[in-house]
Amino acid sequence: MIQIESVSKMFKEGFRGRKVQALQDLALSVAQGEVFGFLGPNGAGKSTTIKILINLIFPDTGQASINGLDVRDKETRRHVGYLPENPYFYDYLTAEELLWFGGRAAGLSSRLVRERSETLLHKVDLYNARKRPLRTYSKGMVQRAGLALALIHDPQVVILDEPMSGLDPIGRKMVGDLIVELKGEGKTVFFSSHILADIERFCDRYGIIVSGRLRRVERVEELLASQLTLEQVFLDEVEKASEGVMS
Ligand SMILES: Nc1ncnc2c1ncn2[C@@H]1O[C@H](COP(=O)(O)OP(=O)(O)O)[C@@H](O)[C@H]1O
Ligand SMILES: [Mg+2]
Repeated sequence: MIQIESVSKMFKEGFRGRKVQALQDLALSVAQGEVFGFLGPNGAGKSTTIKILINLIFPDTGQASINGLDVRDKETRRHVGYLPENPYFYDYLTAEELLWFGGRAAGLSSRLVRERSETLLHKVDLYNARKRPLRTYSKGMVQRAGLALALIHDPQVVILDEPMSGLDPIGRKMVGDLIVELKGEGKTVFFSSHILADIERFCDRYGIIVSGRLRRVERVEELLASQLTLEQVFLDEVEKASEGVMS
């Protein structure tokens, strides 16, 4: 469903053009119906990977596809829902208007947009706030509006960049429940996080990325059956990466 093949990406930073290898030879695939957690410290390359998947930036080498379509194919966007790391919307819009424009832009009929919008506003607990402009929303509320927008066109593949960040425990549970529900519908979910508990609770499989390199991929079941905690595994991978040792 999601396929990433030998993707590398370098950025040049600042006026001196210091080079940052954001991704190095990344290969990863996520099956249909799977919930995949992408775990890594700040600056590891998670958002870069996600931006490549939704065709916001281009890799230097390698390729990515979703549903068998190259991510550069515009058709791909129809099947993909995306929540950015720091959602920013025109803040004079209300949540209801945001979903309206998003749904119409995705090609849904007005009847379908109204239906899905109402369902989603209830799901993300913004129904009562739906007629308020987003600028009156808290960070968590904006995040939840972004989540509803990502799902308005009922995408097969849902890509969420740190969906739990900035949320209180209730908001995190809500996002978690939504992920479980999407999985129940056979959707593929790819989300990044640095919150270990969320990876353990909601994922079928997870990968650890450090300094642009994928260090480990494993089923959460395997981890739980081992004597190790995710925290141990994670810190160990970060340490190995800093020593320059490849596992
Ligand atoms: N547009 C950019 N220009 C320069 N450097 C960038 C840019 N985007 C990301 N980077 C760098 O690439 C690395 C990976 O960033 P990112 O993918 O955002 O990490 P993460 O999402 O895991 O925190 C970091 O070192 C970051 O500073
Ligand atoms: Mg990020």
